Amino acid sequence: MTFIIAIDGPAAAGKGTLSRQIAELYGFHHLDTGLTYRATAKALLDAGLALNDEAVAERMAREVDLGGLDRDVLSRHEVGEAASKIAVMTPVRRALVQAQRDFSRREPGTVLDGRDIGTVVCPDAPVKLYVTASPEVRARRRHDEILAKGGSADFEAIFEDVKRRDERDMGRADSPLKPADDAHLLDTSEMSIEAAFQAARDIIDTALTRK
Ligand code: DC
Repeated sequence: MTFIIAIDGPAAAGKGTLSRQIAELYGFHHLDTGLTYRATAKALLDAGLALNDEAVAERMAREVDLGGLDRDVLSRHEVGEAASKIAVMTPVRRALVQAQRDFSRREPGTVLDGRDIGTVVCPDAPVKLYVTASPEVRARRRHDEILAKGGSADFEAIFEDVKRRDERDMGRADSPLKPADDAHLLDTSEMSIEAAFQAARDIIDTALTRK
């Protein structure tokens, strides 16, 4: 049987980097499930379609190709904003969760990161991590990341954006962001990504020996 690692947490908590590092270390397939919501939203934006029509959004969700998710294109801010709007729609979530579950069964193992992996997509995953950090720390990291890439960024605007995204992710009726009861909490507010990686490795290695 395949081995599933579920990683959830709010935006900009560092779970993307952590998930990629873990997948590489263990030789597992990785899926950033946020990209599936982003790809659905981008398909609607590209086609000039409304973001509030559930039936149309569901059709786009069913057509998302998990093999063709381009992180650079999909990481644009307006795509993220649109993604958070269609992520509240139950038919969209149902379609994407199905595709994500199919992916999670790949051998020899998978790492899925998102908001509802441990609670909804893969509730039986043997390892669940909930990676978080305070809104200030997450906004600061995002701000510094943009500056490091040579862009310009306004901390206050990013901070407000992080808080708004949290409200939307945690406040929606269908599959709100929350830690699964059996998730390990990793608060990276005062922890480097290296330390978080080490903590995650210890948890995963323990679970692998029990397999
Ligand atoms: O992590 P991200 O910013 O790429 O996610 C984009 C949007 O999709 C965000 O509003 C949260 C939502 N999302 C979700 O509802 N469930 C997931 N498993 C992953 C992302």
